[in-house]
Amino acid sequence: MTGLPPLPSAQGLCEGMLAALASMPAPAGAEFTSGLEHDLADAFSSRHAIAVSSGTTALHAALSAIGIGPGDEVLVPALTVVMTAAPVVLLGATAVFIDSDPSTLDLDFADAAAKVTARTRAIVPVHLWGRMGDPASLRAFASEHGIAIVEDAAQAAGTSRAGATAGTVGAAGCFSLKDGKILWSGEGGFVLADDSQLAAHARAFRSHWLQPPAGSHPQERIALNGRLAEPLAALAHANLRRFPALLEHRRAQTAYLMRALDNARGLTPLQPASDETWNHYAPLFHIGLPSPRAFAEHLAQQEVPNSTGTFRLVPCDTRPMFTSTDRKLCRGTGQILDRTLALVLTERDDEAALNHYAAVIIREAAAWRT
Ligand SMILES: Cc1ncc(COP(=O)(O)O)c(C=O)c1O
Repeated sequence: MTGLPPLPSAQGLCEGMLAALASMPAPAGAEFTSGLEHDLADAFSSRHAIAVSSGTTALHAALSAIGIGPGDEVLVPALTVVMTAAPVVLLGATAVFIDSDPSTLDLDFADAAAKVTARTRAIVPVHLWGRMGDPASLRAFASEHGIAIVEDAAQAAGTSRAGATAGTVGAAGCFSLKDGKILWSGEGGFVLADDSQLAAHARAFRSHWLQPPAGSHPQERIALNGRLAEPLAALAHANLRRFPALLEHRRAQTAYLMRALDNARGLTPLQPASDETWNHYAPLFHIGLPSPRAFAEHLAQQEVPNSTGTFRLVPCDTRPMFTSTDRKLCRGTGQILDRTLALVLTERDDEAALNHYAAVIIREAAAWRT
């Protein structure tokens, strides 16, 4: 089997952070954040990039910037983590959960259409595991219903489909820089947007509604602090320079593990769509074994980290804060999450670690009878 390329050098990660630390205290300083934003916009071919403290804050700022507020409804796939829906709720709007298609992992647009009401203002597609739905269908749906698209691309840096880069399909794209993501700074996130007003709103939103230069504008609104700390901006910037290599590395890791599991009993690789350039965020398999979710949980107990077994990922509409008796559950999403093995990798997983995961999975799948 072809080996893994070496982990991209971490040289240069510290220099920027040390420079940021050396410039402190600088209470109004944003030199490192501005540099990061400039190069993010360039790297993702977006007019604006706004760095924030987390992926959740990125979603919060972007949804606020498109005007989501009390009384509005926002379509959110049930196939996601709770962090996608939380900002909708915090803005006083209602998250209306829509299903996904088990055969493609893309949104179930028929279900979404059935859930559109006069109050629907936006849809938040989530590119879970770095997999991206069809951008043309998404745009057609949004334009037919006159609603905005805010992408949750937290896991999808580096994915594109049919010529569209994840995070640039709609009004705004939201990313997380949490450690574990391919592009990371420990904590952090950013919003991509082409519209200048939307970008200005997001910038004010992340910083107590203060607008540069300091003291130039009266603060018209209340907002919290969602800024990215300068040393983390420097770290994100250094990692952005490594991003092409980090992306290649993740692609090689995932391809390596998927090849190693080629003949594992009951596991079928989930391949991207033919027009998709997938970032290979997580090796994905359909589990064709009895009690598939229990198998994923069993692997987690054997220290093979995975989305459902380790992190108990469940359809968002089944979480206690969202359950309601008058709503039909998103059954396609339940099927996807019950039957998908999504392995969680880090950039430090070398050949030995991947071989170990493969050996455990092959052994446990062969023995699984439950
Ligand atoms: C799909 C998705 N959305 C949103 C988030 C929230 O990002 P953060 O943890 O940076 O707030 C995450 C984080 O893991 C995520 O995976």
